[in-house]
Amino acid sequence: MNDFNFNGLSNKINNHKRSKLGHFPTPLEPLPRLSEWLGGPSIFVKRDDASGLGQGGNKIRALEFLIPDAVACGSDILLTAGVIQSNSVRQVAAAAAKVGLDCHFAMITDRIDETDADYAKTGNIFLNHLYGATHELMSIKDDKDEVLLKMAERLKSVGRKPYIVPYGCANLLGAIGYLNAAYETAKQIVEQNLSITHLIHASGTGGTQAGLIVGFALLGIPIKVIGIDIDADEAGVRDRVTKILRLLAKEVGLDARKLEEKIIIEPGYSAGAYGKADDPTVEAMTASSRLEALTTDPVYSAKGLAGLIGLSRKGYLKKSDNIIFLHTGGVPAIYAYRSLFGY
Ligand SMILES: Cc1ncc(COP(=O)(O)O)c(C=O)c1O
Repeated sequence: MNDFNFNGLSNKINNHKRSKLGHFPTPLEPLPRLSEWLGGPSIFVKRDDASGLGQGGNKIRALEFLIPDAVACGSDILLTAGVIQSNSVRQVAAAAAKVGLDCHFAMITDRIDETDADYAKTGNIFLNHLYGATHELMSIKDDKDEVLLKMAERLKSVGRKPYIVPYGCANLLGAIGYLNAAYETAKQIVEQNLSITHLIHASGTGGTQAGLIVGFALLGIPIKVIGIDIDADEAGVRDRVTKILRLLAKEVGLDARKLEEKIIIEPGYSAGAYGKADDPTVEAMTASSRLEALTTDPVYSAKGLAGLIGLSRKGYLKKSDNIIFLHTGGVPAIYAYRSLFGY
């Protein structure tokens, strides 16, 4: 159990400069009441929602590697893009505030057709402005990379030094943060003498899943990583995970083709659209809240948990399995979805 390649993985991570922004390691703890209720595998939670900075979430790990690059580039403003309730944008805004950079973002206003009345005033968007970020509007039909490049050109022409943080913090450097998550989780597994079979989480722009697959492979720890598609776009999620996985594989010297075989995307729990919730989403939110006081959000983490619940009921996950539910964050968005619970 103890002969995992921790040194090999930490050497690769340490090739990159890291700013300590979050509260790491995040807890890894059992969920006994949720496990008993489900009557299937033993469930543990890895609390990346509790990563600290700016209400936490998975992108803090990515930003620990992106921020030093922005600083090394001499930038004075971070640029990014996301939907109105983007957790990624909120974490970029928080990181910028923490290290004394400005933050400006392109806000996608038309990705979700029907929303609560105050969707555009509460939750993540409120926090973005509290952290001092400014925004302009864009459409989901626009090319995100092009919008960011144009924004950067415009700011350069007035003497600013912009640094582009890609949509979802999803690039090679951001995904190094998830190699680090694999390292941290494996250390906790050894310390707690656990035998984990699967790790399940909400997957979207791909960096989280790619980082975990490559990190566990380099360590030699046999944990299956299951990404729950939250975009209702299985092929798109797989494509994004694959692209980042290839970059990471090259970075750490592993065979990308073998790693690509390990990509598991489960499409059945997306509620049919990004930002929408259905009965399994609401059931997962309710169960985690009432049984473990673990808050999950309807856009990401509750869909991840709904996947775990559904795969257990189908018998894909067995009673003898030990599963980590990676809570990737997203909790600030719940205030924009109160109508799901009749509020
Ligand atoms: C709360 C939350 N969970 C999961 C994800 C998906 O992670 P990734 O984009 O790395 O696939 C995101 C992405 O924005 C997120 O905000």
